[in-house]
Amino acid sequence: MIIKKWNLINTVFIFTVLMLMQISCTTRMPSDLSKESIIPKPVEVTPTGDYFALKGGIAIYVQEESDELAKIGRYLADRLNPATGYNIEVKTALNEPRPGNIFLKLSSGDEILGDEGYKLIITKKLLKLEANNPEGLFRGVQTIRQLLPAAVEFAVKQDGPWEIATGTIVDYPAYSYRGAMLDVSRHFFGVDDVKRFTDFLAYYKMNKLHLHLSDDQGWRIEIKSWPNLAIIGGSTQVGGGPGGYYTQEQYADIVQYANEQYITVVPEIDMPGHTNAALASYAELNCDGKARELYTGTEVGFSTLCTHKEITYKFVDDVIRELAAMTTGPYIHIGGDETHATKVEDFIPFINRVQDIVASHGKKVIGWDEIALSTLRPNSIAQHWANVENANKAVSQGAKVLMSPATRAYIDMQYDSTTPLGLHWAAYIEVDDAYNWDPATLVTGIGKENIVGIEAPLWTETIKNMNDIEYMVFPRLPGYAEIGWTLAHARNWDEYKHRLSKHGDRFTVMDINYYQSPRVPWAGEK
Ligand code: ACM
Repeated sequence: MIIKKWNLINTVFIFTVLMLMQISCTTRMPSDLSKESIIPKPVEVTPTGDYFALKGGIAIYVQEESDELAKIGRYLADRLNPATGYNIEVKTALNEPRPGNIFLKLSSGDEILGDEGYKLIITKKLLKLEANNPEGLFRGVQTIRQLLPAAVEFAVKQDGPWEIATGTIVDYPAYSYRGAMLDVSRHFFGVDDVKRFTDFLAYYKMNKLHLHLSDDQGWRIEIKSWPNLAIIGGSTQVGGGPGGYYTQEQYADIVQYANEQYITVVPEIDMPGHTNAALASYAELNCDGKARELYTGTEVGFSTLCTHKEITYKFVDDVIRELAAMTTGPYIHIGGDETHATKVEDFIPFINRVQDIVASHGKKVIGWDEIALSTLRPNSIAQHWANVENANKAVSQGAKVLMSPATRAYIDMQYDSTTPLGLHWAAYIEVDDAYNWDPATLVTGIGKENIVGIEAPLWTETIKNMNDIEYMVFPRLPGYAEIGWTLAHARNWDEYKHRLSKHGDRFTVMDINYYQSPRVPWAGEK
C-alpha cells in the first residue's frame, strides 16, 4: 500500500515537472495580435504582423510625476521581473521614451474608452498603453500580462524570449459592475485567501468583490460597538470548525488591497433572515429575548431579527455606521433573501427602514431580488438570483438590476453529477452553461439599460479551503468576466473555448487547482 502510494506520488511529481518544463520551454513567435487568447475578448484588435521584444535593461515609463501612475507601473514591473529576471524600473517621461521600453500614459479625450477602457499600441519599438483614467491603465496592464507567454507568471526566472505581437487594441467594458462574491460566513477564509481571490478577479478585469460577511453560521467582521458578534458569532462555521473573523484592521487591509487593483469591496450583512450568528451573540435581538444556539448546519430560512424591536434598528445603525466608515466603495449589501421566518408585512417596512439607514451613512443599497417587495430608493440595486417577478418589480420602480441567476452564475453549483464539491439545487453548470447566456436577454422586460452588470456568487457550504475555491472558480470565472466585459454579439462559445483552453497553462503556472472540463479542448492546445 505504502509502495503504491509512493509510486503515485513519484508519477504525479514527474508529470508536473514535465508539464512545467514544457510551459517554460515553449518558444513562440507571435506575429498575429488577433490570434492571441485574451480574456475577456477585447472590443477591437488590429494586428500589424510584427513583434515587440521585451529585453533586459528596459524601463516602464509613466507620463507624469503621479504616485498613482507610478504604482501601476510598479505593479506591472512586479509582475514581469520574477520570471524575466530583469530588474525593470519605473521612471517618468514627458514624451515617448527610447525604443524597447514600455510607456503608460493618460490621454483624456477618447470618450468611447470611458472610465475603464484603454488603448494598447504595440509597435516593434514601443509598448504604449493609454487610458482616460488610471483604472483603464490597470485594466490594460492585464492585457499586457496575457499577451506575454504563460511562463511570465512564474515566480522564478525562466528563459525567454518575451515577445508580444504588434498592433492596436481598443477596449472597454459592456457593463460597469463585473464581480464575484465570496461567502466567508459558511466557511471562513483568511485575509491571504481573500487576496488571492481578488488577484483572480483583477487578472480578468473584474472590478467588484462582494464579501458575504454574515449568515446563520458565522459573523465575520469586528463591530466595536457590538463585540460579541465577532467573538461569539464568529466562533464557528459549517461542520463546527473554529470559524474566525476579520478585525477592522484586517478588513481595511482587504479593502486597500482590492482598491489598489481598482476593485471595489461590496460588504454584505444579510438581514433580517440569515442572522442566527447575530441572534446567538445578543439575546436582545430575539423577539423572545433568548439567545439562540450557534448553528453549524446548512439549512436556510429559519432565523429572523425581531423587526418590531427598536433595539434591532440601533443594532443595524451601529453595524452599518462602522461598516460604512471602513468601506471605501459606494455600496452596502443588506441581503434580504430567503426571509421565510419573517412575515412579509414585517419584511417590507424593515427593508425600507434599513435602506434609509444605509443612505444616512452615505452609501447605496444592494440587496437580493426580494428587496424589490419593498419601496426601493432610486439608487438601490436588486441582485437577481431567483425570482423573475422580483427583478421586474425592481425595474418597474426605476431601480437597476445586478444579474446573478443561480441557474447560470452560481459558482457553488456542481459542474456535473460527478463534481466532488458544490451543490446542484439550481442546476449543474458546466463551463459552457456558465458562459452561454446574455444578461440583457435573460429576463423578459429587462434590457441592458436596466442592468448594472453581472456577479458570480460562490457560496461555501461545501467549500472549505483555497483549493476548493479554485476548483469551483476555474475555469468558470473567466467566462463570467467576459460576459460582463464583452457584448453578447461578439461572444461565441466555440471560439471562446479555444481561448480558454490556452489559459490552462496560465492556471498551471499560477498553481491554480482548476477543473479540467471535458468541454474545453485542453489537450489539443498543449
Ligand atoms: C441566495 O442564494 N440565497 C441569495
